[in-house]
Amino acid sequence: MNANQPIINLKTFTTFALALGLSCTAWAQNITIPVETKNNALVLQIDGKKDIGTIYLGKKLNDAAAYAQIPSVYKQTADYTDNTSNSAYSTSGSRGYFEPAVTVTHSDGNNSLDLRYVSHKVTKVDNNVSLLSVVLKDPVYNFEVTLYYKSYFNEDVVEQWSSIKHSEKGNVVLHKFASANLYLKAAKYYLTQYHGEWAKEMQPEESLITHGIKTLDTKLGTRANLFQPSVFMISIDQPATEDEGTVLYGSVEWSGNFRTDLELDNMDNLRVIAGANNYASAYTLKPNEVFTTPAFLYTMSDKGKGDASRKLQRWARNYRVLDGNGNRLTLLNNWEATYFDFDEQKLFELIKDTKKLGVDMFLLDDGWFANKYPRNGDNAGLGDWQENKKKLPNGVSSLVKEATANGVKFGIWLEPEMVNPKSELYEKHPNWVIKQPKRDEHYFRNQLVLDLANPEVQNFVFGIVDDLFTKNPELAYIKWDCNAVIFNAYSAHLKNQSHFYIEYMRGLYKVLERIRAKYPKVPMMLCSGGGGRVDYAALKYFTEFWPSDNTDPLERIFIQWEYSYFYPAITSSNHVTDWGKQPIKFRVDVAMMGKLGFDIVVSKLSGDELKFCQEAIKNYNQLKDIIWHGEQYRLADPRKNSVASIMYVDEAKSSCVMFNYLVNNRYDEGSKLPVKLKGLDAAKRYTLKEINLYPGSNSSLDATKTYSGEFLMTIGYNPDVKAGRNSVILQINEAK
Ligand code: DGJ
Repeated sequence: MNANQPIINLKTFTTFALALGLSCTAWAQNITIPVETKNNALVLQIDGKKDIGTIYLGKKLNDAAAYAQIPSVYKQTADYTDNTSNSAYSTSGSRGYFEPAVTVTHSDGNNSLDLRYVSHKVTKVDNNVSLLSVVLKDPVYNFEVTLYYKSYFNEDVVEQWSSIKHSEKGNVVLHKFASANLYLKAAKYYLTQYHGEWAKEMQPEESLITHGIKTLDTKLGTRANLFQPSVFMISIDQPATEDEGTVLYGSVEWSGNFRTDLELDNMDNLRVIAGANNYASAYTLKPNEVFTTPAFLYTMSDKGKGDASRKLQRWARNYRVLDGNGNRLTLLNNWEATYFDFDEQKLFELIKDTKKLGVDMFLLDDGWFANKYPRNGDNAGLGDWQENKKKLPNGVSSLVKEATANGVKFGIWLEPEMVNPKSELYEKHPNWVIKQPKRDEHYFRNQLVLDLANPEVQNFVFGIVDDLFTKNPELAYIKWDCNAVIFNAYSAHLKNQSHFYIEYMRGLYKVLERIRAKYPKVPMMLCSGGGGRVDYAALKYFTEFWPSDNTDPLERIFIQWEYSYFYPAITSSNHVTDWGKQPIKFRVDVAMMGKLGFDIVVSKLSGDELKFCQEAIKNYNQLKDIIWHGEQYRLADPRKNSVASIMYVDEAKSSCVMFNYLVNNRYDEGSKLPVKLKGLDAAKRYTLKEINLYPGSNSSLDATKTYSGEFLMTIGYNPDVKAGRNSVILQINEAK
């Protein structure tokens, strides 16, 4: 199948042949529906009882007709044939006995649900994207679920979600409402999951999945990924490596509470049930109201983790991240340079330093606002978004003017979802704050979360951004922070508190939609006290994210490495700071792996340090197109080697950049063996030139030699990383 053919090959192997794009309500014994992408297929099958199950998820077959021959391997023995263990959307209270995707209490108080196939149709969105929808109904109740499968052919990515509605006489309560219910059949499954903390994001763990249920979830409401992000990998049969093995990457597209259950059943099938977390969230659904779940996103590769990553990164750039194929601004941020201690004069100096350094923009961080309770620390002022008159007597507009006069852009920090109890906002609108009416307040970083379920609060939050842009049309960038989790979840606005977590997120997305409708392209950084909110629902509105407050470059190599499995380099804001013990070259070289920024006191740099940074920024400007838009290949894993290596290759395979870092400072460690490059054209010849040399130092590598792509990918190249040369960047170009 080529890229111009439909993504979803719809075939039935019954007496009825269905035409692509037509809706179908008739069938004989079985209907087989393959959802095919370039390399993979998810195959659904409807049996004579109208049960819909997953009979296959994996590498696609050349002959789509052969899917019908797949035995119902997921079915149990004769005694159990009626069960629905491979259900495409498992229910509870009727015939299913495993973890359900959906659980309800009907309007008459009955707790059973049984969903049977009614019809399906395929809509071709464009040459690459198709949408399969499958309607299921309960034979007894007027209760209906539509399953959606949006497939991106070239990227091998599928987004799955469901919509739920009913026309019963009264309300129905949804106790669980998963986005997707995948089904895998293999001998063994290995889970790679992540845990973390502030400054310790994306710590990987891999384990054999054992029988029973393993749940990955969060209940924090906001800053939801603080302890656990929703991204995970499942390797099939054996742990996948960078270039070998079958692996599925999954993630829930939801910035709030998520939940993924991985259930290994009695027949060794793995059921993956993922969606928004139903924790404290029983949802009362009125007749004819449609409840749409967020999407569950996945991709699969039989060529290892690297291939899976590149597919997801391509999908993200092409379809999800705001301006994913566009440009980004390099910047100087003042957070670690000043913290809350600055005034207009100091900022004017920093704006001049921005120009001197050679980056595109100055980003003013926390501390610029609030008067009655000035924001001079993290214990006051959040919510009062008026310029602090002492620090900024002439307002933000004077800073924007100064930036423009210096030929740089100006960006600003906001944390619009939050409030300090010590603020005028809290005094004026205590009912806008999430807190339990009868309980003591409980703070996270001295602050509370505003109730975005309330439309008045949504207007307020939209207004913060809108006012800033209205007063300062030249404002070029926003860093949107979110430092607190939700304690004492309670909305004074909502009648039904069980809707709180869902309505909060709906409110947040409404605000972001409004911002994007009015300011479609202004770059915004997604920050949450570090990487507390990094997900593919939010990245629809944001151009980049802040991986971690931990900017120690040695730590960052590991953190950025793990994010790179799931997110493209263009989204990773990497700032050079004073964290860690490494010299400036090492810090800059590490930050260059993604979207480069600085958060240092430029005036304290020595002459050579400044010169190095200025040259490095020039190099970055030449290479950024490859880093942002090229293909990324992980070459040497810092968790398995003393050296970490990663490279980026442009579409023509003629311009590349390779980053190499020493990650083990023990005696005599370094790149003893050549590192095998990837993604090159075997037939082309390349030169390798070391760049970002510190003033006064020479490269130990010979830039005049040329090598074939075949040589570099088979034999490799030694970047000569060792103590004293602990970071080496190579610019690789096709030899002229
Ligand atoms: C947390 C962020 O992660 C930091 O980068 C900084 O913006 C502070 N908040 C400001 O309070």
